[in-house]
Amino acid sequence: MSVARRTGAITPRDISAAKGSTPLVCLTAYTTPVARLVDPDCDVVLVGDSVGMVLHGLSSTLGVTLEMMIMHGKAVRRGLERALMVVDMPFGSYEEGPEQAMRNAARLMAETECAAVKIEGGETMAETIRFLSERGVPVMAHVGLTPQAVNALGGYRVQGKGLEAERIRRDALAVAEAGAFSVVLEKVPETLARRITEDVAIPTIGIGASPACDGQILVVDDMLGMFTDFRPKFVKRYAELAKQAETAVKSYAQEVRERRFPAPEHVFGE
Ligand code: KIV
Repeated sequence: MSVARRTGAITPRDISAAKGSTPLVCLTAYTTPVARLVDPDCDVVLVGDSVGMVLHGLSSTLGVTLEMMIMHGKAVRRGLERALMVVDMPFGSYEEGPEQAMRNAARLMAETECAAVKIEGGETMAETIRFLSERGVPVMAHVGLTPQAVNALGGYRVQGKGLEAERIRRDALAVAEAGAFSVVLEKVPETLARRITEDVAIPTIGIGASPACDGQILVVDDMLGMFTDFRPKFVKRYAELAKQAETAVKSYAQEVRERRFPAPEHVFGE
């Protein structure tokens, strides 16, 4: 049975158990209304640190703070009934070591009531992932393109081509062995995604990583077409909401200027 057909809140264990079955459906959300919208169809809702770029206009995720993640996490919590809620640990909140990560993960879980956190990084984060997992913090790992390392990686390019593939594979194996309950593979070639998915015991969740993965995740604003100027190859647009909104705003402006809005049906009588 797919995770999506079960009733009640989905747990990290349900996600682990879904390895190799019906693909896992995952989206981001940052607000209560969007969380309500995606909850019935998603297995996992991620409060991603992409919130910094998507909603706050930052040029990368590096300026996102723990307080921002807590605020958006609380908002998403109010909109979810069944999907598993995962909150991203922002840059600078976990890299110093297991104790710092534990302190901040505990704060995220206590204040947002999320059931799991996500951490970027492979082999170097394995010790931290093990520390958290053994202390009641389910961890979704994230390897391949890790946006918080954009400066070190030299941009948002595909990771794991040629000789790099083995490093990414080792990263995925290390986080799985350390106890992560699932792992996001971002922007890696299909052959590598397939190999990792076959080699690790936990579900792989792809973004720009082919259908070979055990599940897929997208930034909800990207797949809804909320941006007219951002069209990465790995995003399929299921709607063109930015275009629709632009047309709606133009119509409103014109009708106000021509005194056609408000019309009689929008006006209160005595
Ligand atoms: O921050 C984010 O939204 C993410 C994913 C889309 C995987 O990390």
